[in-house]
Amino acid sequence: MRVLSGVKPSDRPHIGNYFGAIRQFLEFQHRHEGFYFIADLHALDQVRDAARLREYSFGVALDFLALGLDPKKAVLFRQSDVPEVTQLQWVLGTVTPMGLLERAHAYKDAVAKDKSVDFGLFAYPVLMAADILLYDSDRVPVGQDQTQHLEIARDIAIRFNRTYGKDFDPKTGEGGVLKLPSAVVLEETGIVPGTDGRKMSKSYGNTIPLFGTDAEWRKSVMGIVTDSVPVEAPKDSRKSTVFALLKLFSTPEEIAEIERQYRAGGVGYGSFKERLLRKIQETFGAARERRRQLERDPVEVERVLAEGASRARAVAGQVLGRVLRACGLRV
Ligand code: ADP
Ligand code: TRP
Repeated sequence: MRVLSGVKPSDRPHIGNYFGAIRQFLEFQHRHEGFYFIADLHALDQVRDAARLREYSFGVALDFLALGLDPKKAVLFRQSDVPEVTQLQWVLGTVTPMGLLERAHAYKDAVAKDKSVDFGLFAYPVLMAADILLYDSDRVPVGQDQTQHLEIARDIAIRFNRTYGKDFDPKTGEGGVLKLPSAVVLEETGIVPGTDGRKMSKSYGNTIPLFGTDAEWRKSVMGIVTDSVPVEAPKDSRKSTVFALLKLFSTPEEIAEIERQYRAGGVGYGSFKERLLRKIQETFGAARERRRQLERDPVEVERVLAEGASRARAVAGQVLGRVLRACGLRV
């Protein structure tokens, strides 16, 4: 089974990205063949500064490696290092109805907010479909907000197979040119809340950075919005963002104990925040140090990415060849 996923280097990653997506990749690499990439072509739509894009792309590679992605097991590469992906995107675009893309959340939101919409944003799901289909991916671990993109990718694959796969059976997915992928979403961490209680997102400015400095971590955690229930009074853990975040880092026994403290009262939100801060430091402190060390060896990181790109291209070339032959662009 082949697992694939990508992270857009549009900013520094946050703990929502980690629990919603990255952590799953890292677990999968031990059991399945993994293809993980830095979605730099997708980021172009948001980052319009060459130096920053380079910095963020390299940063995502550092993040993956520091968190334990093993380049001997999984294939780690930059999306733009595999030019086959944009070629496949074009071919897929020719079987993608406008209506399918007009219903995509990101595009609809931009239109609703009167933002200027470019072709890159409109075609975003087609490029993402190409990312996935180019490697015959079986499973794609993502956060909940990406499930629509996965459905679109499946839909595009079905349309391509219906058009060009003579033996394609849409019920079983057998006999197609392109393999039908499915999303993997973890229920409990599908949506990690940010410091203001909304979904943690770069675009809301409510993030806790994955590899922040101690001061940044403290500032974000202390800024988590709470209600004004006094220290001694009982508190409702179900409505608490601090609790929702603590839960991510805690064992079932620890969760039960924290829940008890919420119910009993006598412990203030400040103490729960301190506890969360310690958990963040324990969980990401060592990886942060590894990241610092890797940062000093950019040549090695580039070597890993170059090797990843060549392994990725070996697969991409075969799948693209199949596609080009199926539609008559190649004999
Ligand atoms: P953002 O929303 O901050 O811009 P991205 O769109 O770059 O984040 O998301 C990268 C990955 O992390 C995706 O798989 C996405 O679903 C996941 N993700 C992002 N935010 C969260 C969140 N708050 N909870 C769970 N998963 C998330
Ligand atoms: N769109 C994804 C995000 O915003 C990133 C991404 C690009 C991706 N291509 C992908 C994720 C393919 C999974 C598979 O997070």
